[in-house]
Amino acid sequence: MAQRTKLVAGNWKMHGSLASNLSLLDAVKAGAAGMACEAAVCVPYPYLAQARSVLTGSNVGWGAQDVSAHSQGAYTGEVSAAMLADFGCRYAIVGHSERRTLHGESDQLVAEKFAAALGSGLTPILCVGETLAEREAGVTDSVVTRQLEAVLANSGVAALARAVVAYEPVWAIGTGRTATPQQAQDVHAAIRARVAKDDATVAAGLQVLYGGSVKAGNAKELFGMPDIDGGLIGGASLVAADFLAICAAA
Ligand code: PGA
Repeated sequence: MAQRTKLVAGNWKMHGSLASNLSLLDAVKAGAAGMACEAAVCVPYPYLAQARSVLTGSNVGWGAQDVSAHSQGAYTGEVSAAMLADFGCRYAIVGHSERRTLHGESDQLVAEKFAAALGSGLTPILCVGETLAEREAGVTDSVVTRQLEAVLANSGVAALARAVVAYEPVWAIGTGRTATPQQAQDVHAAIRARVAKDDATVAAGLQVLYGGSVKAGNAKELFGMPDIDGGLIGGASLVAADFLAICAAA
């Protein structure tokens, strides 16, 4: 089995202020020094400059929570991948379920955002995951595979060598309800198997993160599963001690 480094990425969502971010970023930077896992925070756009200024030279990366599919032009309100690269971003989340649901982002649009991020040298964190109704209907694997295949069709399997996938069951996000380690492992294994169908080497090296109510108390068990390579952390990434405890578990 390929040796994959664990990655713990915070997704701050629409939280923060210059003042509160400063103490959070300082604490994460100090606490993550010397940790074996990779760590990153995905902050709201206006705070990218602040993240860059605090985190440059540390072992914590930073990124955005979305990116435009377009490179430039008359797209009011959008932010391009090149702009994110300009601010030193390493990561851009694409296809978070809140974007898919609240902003109507289709599999195709997510695939285009993924390609745009890669095109500017960012590492896309591609989110996939099923709703509760889909899980109960027994179609989890087909939903996740469909979301993944849109990217495979648009960018090709080699692109996944420069990307991260995050499995985030929609019913577990922000709900306090976590997938059991085995439930998550099963989907992670299915994701890796689907990628392996196209390229076994890319599949073996692919970091597949779990997201959905990861806390200090459940991280170790989740990250102990063979195909879980870290986490995408929402709520718990807003409290430095919690986020660092999750990093330590990785
Ligand atoms: P949560 O969010 O950890 O608060 O459940 C995860 C996410 O939405 O990325």
